[in-house]
Amino acid sequence: MEVLSTRAEWRAATDAARAASHRVGFVPTMGALHLGHRSLFDAARERCDVVAASIFVNPIQFGDACDLEHYPRTLADDLAMCEAAGCDLVFTPSVTEIYPSFPELPATTITTGGVALGYEGADRPGHFDGMATVVELLFNLTGPCTSFFGEKDFQQLCVVRQMVRDLAIQVDVVGCPTVREPDGLALSSRNVQLSRDGHRVALSLHRALCVGAEAAEVGRTVDEIASAMARVVEAESGARLFYAAVVDPLTMVVPVDADPGDEVRLLLAAEVEGVRLLDNAGAVLGPAS
Ligand code: PAJ
Repeated sequence: MEVLSTRAEWRAATDAARAASHRVGFVPTMGALHLGHRSLFDAARERCDVVAASIFVNPIQFGDACDLEHYPRTLADDLAMCEAAGCDLVFTPSVTEIYPSFPELPATTITTGGVALGYEGADRPGHFDGMATVVELLFNLTGPCTSFFGEKDFQQLCVVRQMVRDLAIQVDVVGCPTVREPDGLALSSRNVQLSRDGHRVALSLHRALCVGAEAAEVGRTVDEIASAMARVVEAESGARLFYAAVVDPLTMVVPVDADPGDEVRLLLAAEVEGVRLLDNAGAVLGPAS
């Protein structure tokens, strides 16, 4: 496994892989790697010849300096996980390697609209612009590849797909299912910030998704499904619900006249012990009862 930290080295290594007719699978991460990230490396290994991962805590996608400061950083363990997962190339650039003018923003950044506007985009101004800017920059350095993203961050996956389409970027985006703890909690780098009790409270998100999927199946309306999910999270005094929503999985808009058989995405965001937690699941609307 090669660990590289400059733009030039990364571009040369990924170019060399393509020159040898290898398909490059690229997995961008912010480190603090867990089995959710591991599943993306495994998916890349399965579909590609060279697995390339990046580890970079992107300062311009954090609204809050405190959140950025507390973001877990575990580089030695991360590199061990990359090695064990069979990664071939790992990019670990410094902040100034990516943003030479930091803490000034780069003069050119991506502005996201469409699927980025609601939910996380509305609650965290600038988050998706910062995320899209670094992902586009990493795509440019990596070159044509297949890139793997988790459905755990469903709206992020939609924003990346939209950007790739809008800007004709030569990257195939593959979405991979959410990896969960045995008790249902979606794995997240932020889970280490939860106490045992916080973990218990956080499980209400998964419970709410199960309630939502059941309500969908028995033919409830999208409003009823969203309210049923909200009630489950709101019943936990330690959780502060930001949103519970049912959206069209392609447009991220609440469907106005949904029909039985339509696919929807159930979205949830809540704060537990100061940690912002996200979860989501697919569901199919059942016949009206
Ligand atoms: P990070 O939170 O490190 O996540 C990196 C990738 O791992 C994302 O595609 C995310 O959706 C996926 N992931 C996280 N938890 C997962 C889980 N439980 N199951 C499956 N996949 C999971 O997302 C980012 O970093 C950043 O925004 C990034 C795209 C790297 C840009 O900075």
